[in-house]
Amino acid sequence: MRANGWTDLYDWHIDRASNTPIFRQIYLQARAAILSRTFSAGAKLPSTRDLASRLRVARASVVAAYEQLFAEGYLSGKIGSGTYVSFDLPEPVDRRAPNNGTPRNRKRRTNRGRALGIREFPEASLQDNDRPFNTGRTLVDARTLAVWRTLTGRSLRAFGDRELMYSDPRGSTDLRKAICQYLQAARAVQCTPDQIIVTSGTQQGIDIAIRVLLRPDDEVWVEDPGYPLTRHALAMAGAKLRPIPVDAQGINVRAAMKAAPRATAAVVTPSHQFPTGVVLSMARRLELLAWARETGGWIIEDDYASEFRYSGRPLASLQGLDDCERVIYFGTLNKTLFPGLRIGYAVVPPPLLKAFTNARCLMDRQPPTLQQAILAEFMQEGHLAAHIRRLRLAYRDQRDLLVAELSRRARAYLTVQAPDQGMYLVANLRQGLRDIDVEAAARRNGLVVRAMSPLYKKASPRSALMLGFSGYPRQRILPAVASLGRVLRMQRQPEKQ
Ligand SMILES: Cc1ncc(COP(=O)(O)O)c(C=O)c1O
Repeated sequence: MRANGWTDLYDWHIDRASNTPIFRQIYLQARAAILSRTFSAGAKLPSTRDLASRLRVARASVVAAYEQLFAEGYLSGKIGSGTYVSFDLPEPVDRRAPNNGTPRNRKRRTNRGRALGIREFPEASLQDNDRPFNTGRTLVDARTLAVWRTLTGRSLRAFGDRELMYSDPRGSTDLRKAICQYLQAARAVQCTPDQIIVTSGTQQGIDIAIRVLLRPDDEVWVEDPGYPLTRHALAMAGAKLRPIPVDAQGINVRAAMKAAPRATAAVVTPSHQFPTGVVLSMARRLELLAWARETGGWIIEDDYASEFRYSGRPLASLQGLDDCERVIYFGTLNKTLFPGLRIGYAVVPPPLLKAFTNARCLMDRQPPTLQQAILAEFMQEGHLAAHIRRLRLAYRDQRDLLVAELSRRARAYLTVQAPDQGMYLVANLRQGLRDIDVEAAARRNGLVVRAMSPLYKKASPRSALMLGFSGYPRQRILPAVASLGRVLRMQRQPEKQ
């Protein structure tokens, strides 16, 4: 039995001019709401006293209506001690909307309000499947969870007016300060807390940048291959995408200047190119910054997953090299901690701050206060740094295990190298195996491997798989690689070695 209160919020009403007796009007409304499932089975109805006083009718009218509903089997329980919608309704439930006087079959207008948007949305982009080797999955260990629970309790107990009301659209001062210190130390980002805007993640950050910086039909350089969700966001805003090839040094800036000299912006993943994992070389970084300085172009830096670097020196952010306020930097804690957190940040050059803050406010007002309070403490007390240190070790072990197992069980079908950074690796397929076929076959066998070729637009595609290792501990990696080995074998018998 459920007392969720929805029946109290229902639009109960009485038409005093009607010839229909009052008890029958109440009866008909309740019956219609039950049949249409507006009141679900088990829902608690308002007490007869409450409903009578709300409708300003005699209580006896409500009692009579309820009695009839009881007699017909719509209600169960006992008047006076709780009245509930019956679980065994006496006639088939009418799933159609209640007839409120408008003709049911009135022709829908089809020539107006055509929906604009992205129809094709690759399933892999959703990243909600927890099967190995989906990308974008994180592990949250017991220590992080325990601290998070403690801090949630503490933040809730301290909850006051400040947290319950509207607040700064840029996010709380405490969290912006903590993010600023972290970025200065870990990513050599040049910023003050005033330049930080807390977002729900990179996706929202990039959406804000598109709204503020681009007009429909503006040309934008995007990496080829590249991250589909950024491309979709740009396409939805009417930008003209100019795919620019990525080579061993990252996006080819000279090729970009030739192919699309009038571009307004470039969207790049310099520290770990998505999906190839290539690091943008220093020469290319300087070329890109020079282009922005000379043409007034904007650089949108998506610095995802840069916390998880396993070897070699971490390369500082591109923003850290920018001396002319052309780079807008985006980072996310949805990868560092867990995607359900939905907190990221933008570092915005001072001349753009007002426009970004206003756009953020128009989108969804502000970030949620509770999550911000918890995260600010989590960062200030050193838990984020400790979490990163622990997870870096765990992810590195998982990466190494995955590389070793793939080499052991599937060497005939793919080649793989351990990436220095990130949460997935790229396995190049051999023997003419097509990545989209392997992706489909793997899915039928309970595995999620992401084909890389659909991420190419103009450049000639690589037949390769993206395999996420961050979300999967040892005991899940071992059987999953065995299963992937079988899938590959079924796709093609290996050549004799
Ligand atoms: C290239 C890239 N950027 C950013 C993100 C993170 O986006 P968000 O913070 O919106 O979860 C992802 C997630 O998969 C990604 O692959």
